Amino acid sequence: MLWSGHGRSRELVATTPEDRPLSVQIFSGRTEDLIRAAVWLQEQGYEGVDINMGCPMAKVNGSGGGARLMCSTDNAVRMVEQLIGAVRIPVTVKMRLGWDATTQTAPELAAAFEQIGVAAVTIHGRTRAQGFHGSVNRDGIRQVVQAVRSMPVIANGDVRTVDDAFQMLQDTGCAGVAIGRGAMLDPWIFRRIRQRVQTDAETGDGANTDPSPDEQMQFLEQHFELMQQQHAERSCVLFRKFAAWYGCTLGIPEDLEDRLRRFESAAEFARIVNEIRRRHGERARQVPTALLKVPNGPVEHW
Ligand SMILES: Cc1cc2nc3c(=O)[nH]c(=O)nc-3n(C[C@H](O)[C@H](O)[C@H](O)COP(=O)(O)O)c2cc1C
Repeated sequence: MLWSGHGRSRELVATTPEDRPLSVQIFSGRTEDLIRAAVWLQEQGYEGVDINMGCPMAKVNGSGGGARLMCSTDNAVRMVEQLIGAVRIPVTVKMRLGWDATTQTAPELAAAFEQIGVAAVTIHGRTRAQGFHGSVNRDGIRQVVQAVRSMPVIANGDVRTVDDAFQMLQDTGCAGVAIGRGAMLDPWIFRRIRQRVQTDAETGDGANTDPSPDEQMQFLEQHFELMQQQHAERSCVLFRKFAAWYGCTLGIPEDLEDRLRRFESAAEFARIVNEIRRRHGERARQVPTALLKVPNGPVEHW
């Protein structure tokens, strides 16, 4: 409900001038809602709009949105065409491979989207029925790449390392790779990939892309600073939910992680950060895979 001025939705699309170009994803089973949201985004200066056709959640699918749109291809194409006609900014689509193993409509949809002027599609290589289970079907993504002429297809799913990203490119022939959970596990994955690209092109110096302890601490501090700018007095409470993630990622000693989970002021945050710096290396760093929650179990109950 972006156009209604609903506080929570506006908060989700809050941004800064550095965060450009920025496209916002919207979802609905109703064309008029999508158009209203897209026009509002265009008026606010956002540079693109992405339609969610991949969400597997029952509450989104029940109203005809998300992955449900992939079940009725004519309807989906009509809807996207009307949206493209209503805005000047590029329209992209995020999809799964299809509803389930027997209805993999992504190649057909991608070909039709190209015809009507969709700027790019991103494919999560699972069906809606799979939820987040099983492995990503790169063959399925390749079929989407082969179904279009020149529209960029961005491949997505289970890319956690630089090698995964390059394997995805090689196996699917995609134009780019979208990284979700892998970026949360390793926020430095993008520069690692850039480094590999530059090294392969022999323009890079092969520098080590692992973040230094100082850089990791700057990341933590900057995260809190930005939250303060955006959320003011709520920032301490909101930041606490990242304590476990930082604890694992940066190897923060358990007692300090515990303090990060309870701190109540910026002054206390600064004291904790100083202490973390002083005691760096006390706790072995782990990959915080277990902290990445995905919707689980029968998709009807999400
Ligand atoms: C908690 C959670 C929320 C997500 N929300 C969205 C969403 O709002 N829109 C969307 O297109 N994909 C959403 N996704 C799916 C991801 O964009 C991505 O397609 C999926 O996680 C597979 O890629 P990954 O292995 O790189 O994470 C979400 C995934 C997770 C785990």
